[in-house]
Amino acid sequence: MKKLWGGRFQKTPEKWVDEFGASISFDKELVLEDIQGSLAHVSMLGQCGIIEPIEAQQIKEGLQTLKEKAENDDLVFSVDYEDIHLNLEKLLIDEIGPVGGKLHTARSRNDQVAADMHLYLRNHVNEISQLISAFQQTLINKAKDNVETILPGYTHLQRAQPISFAHHLLAYFWMLERDKQRFEESLKRVNISPLGCGALAGTTFPIDRHLTAELLEFDGIYENSLDGVSDRDFIVEFLSNSSLLMMHLSRFCEELILWCSQEFQFVELDDTYATGSSMMPQKKNPDMAELIRGKTGRVYGNLFSLLTTLKGLPLAYNKDMQEDKEGMFDTVRTVEGSLQIFIGMIETLKVKEDNMKKATTEDFSNATELADYLAKKGMPFREAHEVVGKLVFTCIQKDIYLKDLSLAEYQAASSLFTSDLFEAIDPYTAVAKRISDGGTGFTKVKEAIEKAEKTLIKNIQVLPS
Ligand code: ARG
Repeated sequence: MKKLWGGRFQKTPEKWVDEFGASISFDKELVLEDIQGSLAHVSMLGQCGIIEPIEAQQIKEGLQTLKEKAENDDLVFSVDYEDIHLNLEKLLIDEIGPVGGKLHTARSRNDQVAADMHLYLRNHVNEISQLISAFQQTLINKAKDNVETILPGYTHLQRAQPISFAHHLLAYFWMLERDKQRFEESLKRVNISPLGCGALAGTTFPIDRHLTAELLEFDGIYENSLDGVSDRDFIVEFLSNSSLLMMHLSRFCEELILWCSQEFQFVELDDTYATGSSMMPQKKNPDMAELIRGKTGRVYGNLFSLLTTLKGLPLAYNKDMQEDKEGMFDTVRTVEGSLQIFIGMIETLKVKEDNMKKATTEDFSNATELADYLAKKGMPFREAHEVVGKLVFTCIQKDIYLKDLSLAEYQAASSLFTSDLFEAIDPYTAVAKRISDGGTGFTKVKEAIEKAEKTLIKNIQVLPS
């Protein structure tokens, strides 16, 4: 098989060499971006007088035909043409004849592939950003229904202080907000054009890089041709932003998995987001949450894989860089899929309010309230901590909770105790009173929901179309 670059060769590569070197099996995912880039390039070639207007027109029509075929999944690619770029060039020449060979004037696959990936990531960063917003809206909706649903808050996975469930959900809202900011901020670096950098050094043809950039709606061009073709920072950054997002999703998954265990029973996943066991008839497994937690690993892996691929590469393009794609595609699929599943999982989640509340009455998560109670009456907090610690110890020995001790027992521990202590240690009161900024008090949580909603609306309005 004669290669498109075959002029200086006497022999063709072995079949297995072709197969090993080819990327078409995966870079065909860039088919539409590649055609889009070529359409802009050929318009520029025509407008700059580098090819005849009629030739530019013929090539555009050919590319349009290929585009339609691609959309109908009607293109047949071959390993013989290595990658998406050479496959499309071959198909174009088949379609319109030798004039198709003029498309690659003043262009290299090196600036071409980089442009494709910039276009691809721009689309998907926007898509991910919108999915994050949809997920944030789901969290707000769930939070609205659960302002006064109380549950133990944990540190060290030990019950610490009671909190509002809405407050807990909103913690994820803000993590996701930072994730979204990172993705959107990265668009500045994603949305620039390497087209026209050529193989590495620019070109002798009188091209107009700003024109192709404009046609492709890029915000600017790479300033340096070597940098333009060898930069993959924007992909590393995408993988890094995705890793952070997946880490947040994974922590949430871990909580859901714990919460729907028999030991917690705080929530129940909808049947549509759970699976059974082939052997144990009673099982209802949180598979989706476990899978998202598990898939976090492959996203981290993709980040490390690309960083490692790049670390020893001399400028400019090296074939190693073909390894940048699969991890990127895989990450896009993983992140978009995880967000979509998560939205449904939370929307349909059943909150077992009574179990959550019961848990707050059968623990010592109100011990801080008692220490604060004494501190407010003038006892130094450190002493109050000691007094309450001893009372907790007494309770543990008697197998009771703080609410079960008598007033006389309290007064024996400190004369500052009066009967109002029982109201102070009620978990509901304990939550309600935490009205410091950013705290879990119900009035604060209601304000926080409003703030979250405003933040979301503002962001959706500024999203690029
Ligand atoms: N398939 C190649 C890649 O993805 C395209 C660029 C090839 N350039 C070259 N000079 N071999 O990296």
